[in-house]
Amino acid sequence: MTITLLQHKRIVLAVTGSIAVYKAVDLASKLTQAGAVVDVIMTESAQKFVTPLTFQSVTGRSVYTDLWQTDHAGGLPTHIAHVGLGEGADLLAVIPATAHTIAKLAAGMSDDLLTVTALAARCPLIFAPAMDGGMYQHAATQHNLRTLVERGAILIEPETGRFASGLIGQGRLPETPTLIGAIRRALARQGALAGQKVVVTAGGTREAIDPVRFVSNHSSGKQGYAIAQAALDAGAEVSLISTIQSLPVPIGATLIPVNSAQEMLNAVLTESAQADILIMAAAVADFRPETIADQKIKKTDETRGLTLNLTRNPDILQTVKQGREESGFPRIVVGFAAESENLVANAQSKLARKGLDFLVGNDISASDAGFAVDTNRVILLSKAGEPETLPLMSKTEVGEYLIDRIARYTAIDR
Ligand code: PMT
Repeated sequence: MTITLLQHKRIVLAVTGSIAVYKAVDLASKLTQAGAVVDVIMTESAQKFVTPLTFQSVTGRSVYTDLWQTDHAGGLPTHIAHVGLGEGADLLAVIPATAHTIAKLAAGMSDDLLTVTALAARCPLIFAPAMDGGMYQHAATQHNLRTLVERGAILIEPETGRFASGLIGQGRLPETPTLIGAIRRALARQGALAGQKVVVTAGGTREAIDPVRFVSNHSSGKQGYAIAQAALDAGAEVSLISTIQSLPVPIGATLIPVNSAQEMLNAVLTESAQADILIMAAAVADFRPETIADQKIKKTDETRGLTLNLTRNPDILQTVKQGREESGFPRIVVGFAAESENLVANAQSKLARKGLDFLVGNDISASDAGFAVDTNRVILLSKAGEPETLPLMSKTEVGEYLIDRIARYTAIDR
């Protein structure tokens, strides 16, 4: 799967001698598949676990092992590998990073290709320690980690679990999705929304009938999660207020789980009080049961013709609109509209009524758009311009398009 942020990004993946090297092979493969250009450096001890050919096979590029080697067929057009590798790299990722290499990096040593490249490189350094729990907790290692972090390096915290030795502790290299999530965050630091707080809502609200039943709708949260990921890739700090807990939370987002419209309203008001951008992709129920039964409603003669009385839920966007008139926050508000007819007219009236900067209209009558599917067919309205009708896109692409439009708008707005 390609990832827009990773397209053509030059990542130098420096691999050191740990049993977790096998995970670095998967990482190199997934980064390459996602569109990154991955140059691998292997230390001598890394080659005891896996051969350079393995990395060469998954990246399709030369693998660098020797400071003095000059004949990299198809490799960098320089006779000094460490300068060529560091120059133009978008990120230097030391994964897995042993205690030994971390100590050398902290001390600024330069006795192999990895450490020389680290000194020569001008790009950010991210590193993922992988070692026995005792080694990780050792005061020397902790001191070296702090030194690197204070110098601006990005630490991917190791996980707690079972080691190859059978012992349990903190020191395990995280799995590929976590590593890629951290790499995306590192690459996004200069993104168009860097320093901005974005609040995204996702999923259909659940309005309780009794302790076991609720009224809801078909929203899967996919569109909201895709927007949250796109905002992260643009460098934003993201709060994701969601009724859905079954989707993987984009790495770096803060998940705020909610159920009902009232809970979502409270979370939105808290989170967006200082936010730059609020994007309401959630399908909020307009109505909820008037009363919630304390106990599970039983099948009895009295409940044979059970009638559910509904009452109106608060309108979250209307409430935000009122608060925004006083506080000025959130600076930009984006709504969604799920329409089964008169898409443009209904969307236009919602944009004005709810005081929005942008409104994304979904045509939910199409089978490849709207609720639960992976694609969407939307129109994008803004208070400042002509409506844009977008072609069928993946929800990821819709999220990226929307974030790009908002980023350009905020740049003008500032
Ligand atoms: O989650 P997926 O399966 O990926 O599907 C995506 C989606 C179709 C749910 C999403 O793209 C979408 O259209 N979300 C909004 C659906 C909706 O509730 O539309 P609406 O026309 O009822 O509401 C208009 C706007 O007002 C929305 O931004 C909604 O969040 C907001 N609203 C609605 C009701 C309410 N009480 N308070 C609100 O703030």
